[in-house]
Amino acid sequence: MLTVRAPATSANLGSGFDVFGVALGTPADVVRVERAPETEISVTGVGSQYIPEDPAKNTVGAVAEALDAPARICIDKGVRPSSGLGSSAASAAGAAVALNELYDRGLSREELVPIAAEGEALVSGEAHADNVAPSLLGGFTIVADGVVTQVDASIPVVACLPETTVSTRDARQVVPDRASLSDVVDTVGNAATLAVGMTRNDPELVGRGMEDAIVTPERTALIDGYDRVREAALEAGATGVTVSGAGPGILAVCYPSSQRAVAGAMIDAFDAVGIESRAYQTTVG
Ligand code: HSE
Repeated sequence: MLTVRAPATSANLGSGFDVFGVALGTPADVVRVERAPETEISVTGVGSQYIPEDPAKNTVGAVAEALDAPARICIDKGVRPSSGLGSSAASAAGAAVALNELYDRGLSREELVPIAAEGEALVSGEAHADNVAPSLLGGFTIVADGVVTQVDASIPVVACLPETTVSTRDARQVVPDRASLSDVVDTVGNAATLAVGMTRNDPELVGRGMEDAIVTPERTALIDGYDRVREAALEAGATGVTVSGAGPGILAVCYPSSQRAVAGAMIDAFDAVGIESRAYQTTVG
């Protein structure tokens, strides 16, 4: 069987709603494929009991159909569903890479982005590519007007994942459809700062640039303990904290020297409100 590892991702990064994304070193899904007359999907690993194996209902089924590449597909989930860490995107990206190779389709990673995004449409109702792009390309990605720009980046982060779940559909329903000009100006400034920070591998600029007054405040209300966890992470040395994707994962940017303290502070803060969590100390890359 042909095997592909597809990394978790964190989208939005606060100021870059539906635009920015980063690949994370851990966790990851592993996708194995072999040719078959019809697509069959099996899912194991974390949260696999919540993932449909019917190809018509699974992100990976949509990818197999788009590539006209029927296969036996085994997904070993390392990225928990409904976590905010791009779980469905990791499976879709991994399947796109694996099936492209299995059937010698010859598509580039960039060309696989819209194909993998088709799978996302099944989950959230929209084919947004801000998770599949970094899972396919690595580093920091910008999806703007259908065009993907990628830069390599290396930024230490902590992705803290509470045991609670938030569905992407629910999190999209609270996104406001209007914003004041001053909030838009602030957010554009922050997004630009963040993008420059990524090119310089500068945790200070990236952390500051994650501030967002438009989408993030509406979404934090869906995450029990968010304010407490954010404060704890900042006190422990994080340079910025925001919701990871649609949540409930929380992403903190930091310097390597404070990564461990930030992870511990976030877990303790969730614990203080009675929520178990785990923290991935990892790197954008
Ligand atoms: N940009 C998307 C959102 C990512 O925040 O809704 C979720 O998968």
